[in-house]
Amino acid sequence: MAPRLGPLPLLLLPALTWAVVVATDPPPPNSRSCAATTDYASEREPLLSTEDVRLLVAVDHSTAFPGAVTTACGSGLAGTAHAIHCVGGYPVGGVILEPPLPPTRSVLFLHGLIDKPPLYLSLLSLLLRAANSTADPSPWRSTRLLVPFAPAYPRLFRDAAADQGVPAGPIHAWFDNSHTFPYIPVGALVGATPGEVAAALVATGVVEDRPGLATSTDRLAVLASAQAAGALDGTLPPVAEARTAVVGHSNGGGMAWHLAVQSGVAWAGVVAMSGHLPLTPLYERYPPLARAGRRPFSVASVAGANDTVVDPRVSEAAADVGRRLLGGDDAVTHVTLPGSDHMTYLLGDANTPTVVGLLERAFDGADD
Ligand SMILES: *[C@@H]1O[C@H](CO)[C@@H](O)[C@H](O)[C@H]1NC(C)=O
Ligand SMILES: *[C@@H]1O[C@H](CO)[C@@H](O)[C@H](O)[C@H]1NC(C)=O
Repeated sequence: MAPRLGPLPLLLLPALTWAVVVATDPPPPNSRSCAATTDYASEREPLLSTEDVRLLVAVDHSTAFPGAVTTACGSGLAGTAHAIHCVGGYPVGGVILEPPLPPTRSVLFLHGLIDKPPLYLSLLSLLLRAANSTADPSPWRSTRLLVPFAPAYPRLFRDAAADQGVPAGPIHAWFDNSHTFPYIPVGALVGATPGEVAAALVATGVVEDRPGLATSTDRLAVLASAQAAGALDGTLPPVAEARTAVVGHSNGGGMAWHLAVQSGVAWAGVVAMSGHLPLTPLYERYPPLARAGRRPFSVASVAGANDTVVDPRVSEAAADVGRRLLGGDDAVTHVTLPGSDHMTYLLGDANTPTVVGLLERAFDGADD
């Protein structure tokens, strides 16, 4: 049975901004979650308590955009056979979507810049439904989805322009990438070739949020090893790091790239969607700073040809630089999805089946 992927909005970001206005707000999560993010050392303390996660997840997002589903801790994820487990504290601080069969592999999913990370659960519901309509859906019945929520920054270093679709106020981010905001609308990060784009990034002199990147890298590597040790919440069975694929979108796509080149974890595979490669100028100047050498996994880089938030040439440049860092033409594949905007391919557009195929292929390198 084909999933019902009806017509969906072409521009999700405005829809999300709109959702911020109309969604019923829960009581604010306790203040510790924000306070903890103002100094990096204390970010190792619990990010969100289980109660914070429960309140975030319980918001009725069904009016946010067509296809969005209502979510609640302890329930099934609508349209799927996965169950929503909410686990607060370090390192999960978010949601685990537990499959109906004992997990044999997992996806570590990294959301993009957003004020309400549970909105991404609707997109994952849609992807799981799309996966269930492929020729061989059975592996997804034993695939766990780890959905940690990024730390809530009280505010970003730099405000986004009004037309960039970034919600105002506290926002969940793996690292502060607002330094690149001014360069996006004026096209300063683009060029005719990937090499030119990399050079353009260098020319901006953007200094990226290295403490934020390092903190999230530590946390996500600890999350993978906690899962491998069966220590997620005491009841969920283990899944090895080599059977865990990292999948990230936008700010999470940048984080996925960073995990590929800096975490030292032997992931099953990495899918970096509509992001850039953090610290590209640094690697251009000092290539040895990347963990050079062949990785046992491959990276799939994804861009939307009609992306107005992250220019597709920026993501293509990430693939170009990443290929050199990871050492080998076959270490990185890049796909530009025709007609897709920043996230329409996660919303059931014509390219959603391609994305599901890339997620499936991310496990090709997994040990059996
Ligand atoms: C997956 O697809 C099968 C066959 O079409 C259907 O019977 C089943 O209900 C679907 N499972 C989920 C969780 O959607
Ligand atoms: C994508 O961009 C191309 C070229 O500008 C345009 O012709 C096409 O209509 C766009 N597609 C969508 C879905 O917006």
